[in-house]
Amino acid sequence: MKQTITVFKGDGIGPEITDAVLEILDAAKADLDYEIFNVGEAEYEAHGALIPDDAFTSFEKTRVLLKSPITTPVGKGFRSLNVMMRKKYDLYANIRPARSNAAIKTPFENVDIVIFRENTEDLYAGVEEMIDKDTAHSIKIITRACSERIIRDAFEYAVKQGRKTVTCVHKANIMKLSDGLFRDIFYEISKEYPQIEANDKIVDNTAMQMVMNPQQFDVIVTENLYGDIISDLSSGLIGGLGLLPSSNLGKDFAMFEAVHGSAPDIAGKGIANPTAFLWSACMMLDHLGKQEVAARIRRAVDAVLADGNCLTPDLGGHGTTAAYKDAIIAKLA
Ligand code: NAI
Repeated sequence: MKQTITVFKGDGIGPEITDAVLEILDAAKADLDYEIFNVGEAEYEAHGALIPDDAFTSFEKTRVLLKSPITTPVGKGFRSLNVMMRKKYDLYANIRPARSNAAIKTPFENVDIVIFRENTEDLYAGVEEMIDKDTAHSIKIITRACSERIIRDAFEYAVKQGRKTVTCVHKANIMKLSDGLFRDIFYEISKEYPQIEANDKIVDNTAMQMVMNPQQFDVIVTENLYGDIISDLSSGLIGGLGLLPSSNLGKDFAMFEAVHGSAPDIAGKGIANPTAFLWSACMMLDHLGKQEVAARIRRAVDAVLADGNCLTPDLGGHGTTAAYKDAIIAKLA
């Protein structure tokens, strides 16, 4: 029986990259059925809900979501839909692999970093209040249970993927209790994995080291906010946000999305780079046990990037989303 997945089209460049990626999945014979929903700001303006009830119902049934970026309306009292989805479905493990591609020239070579970002707590827990009109408090929450599961996942991944090192990134020198707890748990769990080297770095030093010597990093495990910031940094090492995919995994649900946002500055121009979203779809295919299809798509992307004829402007080319997508489909054939 064909596997059904849920697809959210999102805002800005979301619909453009979704159409391109679904066409490529079909060309690769991924053999999937889709339940596709418009979600986000445009959907809210048209029908009054950012995510329609049917879309939630579909995800609760299929348990696999390919989600394109959603604009978070600023100043309208909305919580981020992305944060809401991660919390609602307990998608606690945000996994972001940043790998150099031989065809994309940056000042950094041989980068191969996988970031495990805790996705449900920290300053993203949404516990904020105005103490008075000139004072706002935002509470950072770190718990043993949530720290243990993301740290264990990072070590398990390292073992399964033949990785050598897991680095805990924190700011325990200042936030001695919260980040101190995360770091302590990291070293407790590391004892269960003697074959993996465990070390830790303070987040500001990590930012500098990632630029000076990114090759030293292998698997990184970190809290929500630091993970968000250093993963954008890691995308800069490999050629930009157009190249950084991610998975958001929980016990029961899985969501796959590019790390980038809805890129309103280039929306509708037909020049968005669909690679990050396509590689997110490949992570989804791996998750669904369709590793062979994922590998074929990755090879086709590598070949098109190596040809260099239709790279999108973010990668220094003059290509369009459509031309790039067609070139990948041609390679698949
Ligand atoms: P952004 O990631 O949308 O854009 C940052 C820069 O990267 C822009 O110059 C954009 O043109 C470029 N860029 C991003 N993706 C690209 C692609 N695929 N191809 C070519 N260029 C690309 O970040 P920004 O502008 O801060 O956020 C825009 C909106 O997206 C906001 O409403 C934000 O809340 C939302 N957002 C949503 C996310 C999600 O749905 N997962 C994640 C991050 C932001």
